[in-house]
Amino acid sequence: MKTVENRFDIAAATWDKHTERAERTRHFAKSIRSALPLNKGVRALELGCGTGNLAIELEDSLGYILGLDSSKEMIKEFLLKISRLGLDDLDAVCADIMSNDLQGDFDLIYSAMALHHMDDIDGVLTRLYSLIAPGGRLLIIDLFCEDGSFHGSNPVPHNGFNPDTLEGWLHGKGFSGIEFTAINSIEKELESGEKRSFPLFMCTATKTQ
Ligand SMILES: C[S@@+](CC[C@H](N)C(=O)[O-])C[C@H]1O[C@@H](n2cnc3c(N)ncnc32)[C@H](O)[C@@H]1O
Repeated sequence: MKTVENRFDIAAATWDKHTERAERTRHFAKSIRSALPLNKGVRALELGCGTGNLAIELEDSLGYILGLDSSKEMIKEFLLKISRLGLDDLDAVCADIMSNDLQGDFDLIYSAMALHHMDDIDGVLTRLYSLIAPGGRLLIIDLFCEDGSFHGSNPVPHNGFNPDTLEGWLHGKGFSGIEFTAINSIEKELESGEKRSFPLFMCTATKTQ
């Protein structure tokens, strides 16, 4: 069976060829800007940054972004873009969020379409809480609960999330001011040929002082 890392290592070379994905990323950036007061004083971590397109979209609005992803091929693509575009306020590192190497005191951690790929949500949320500075923000974009058709024959640890459940987990870690907003949906043709719309949420939370 392919590991998650292998799956994304294989996908990295063609990840940016999907025009709908690029459009969706621009929409994510717009939603993030409308949800949070971003400025050049903010140091951010993007969890599951892939090839870095969302970080590049947000680069103008933030002081520094570290992209983190467990796929070395995704990070390779991102680092190539950073160097080609001369973006010295962006950096990228290949690591699993659960690795102990990462240190930080980020003002913002954000993540798009990555959390449902992570097994140990309890561990990940504990880790994220520890990496956010007091008063800092967490922002998660992901799928609402679905029946597993989104990934079809390539199952993932979580078929989206129930907002009430995720809110309870975040609250349990110490986050406050937890809010959910429905954002855009992903229109997808399933393996059966059926076309389906998968709604997405954006969740924001604050690390209690
Ligand atoms: C569906 S992709 C989304 C990539 C990017 N956010 C985007 O929207 O294009 C999920 C990403 O999460 C990364 N990922 C999965 N589990 C991870 C973990 N435990 N730690 C860090 N990254 C992880 C994968 O390698 C993959 O690049």
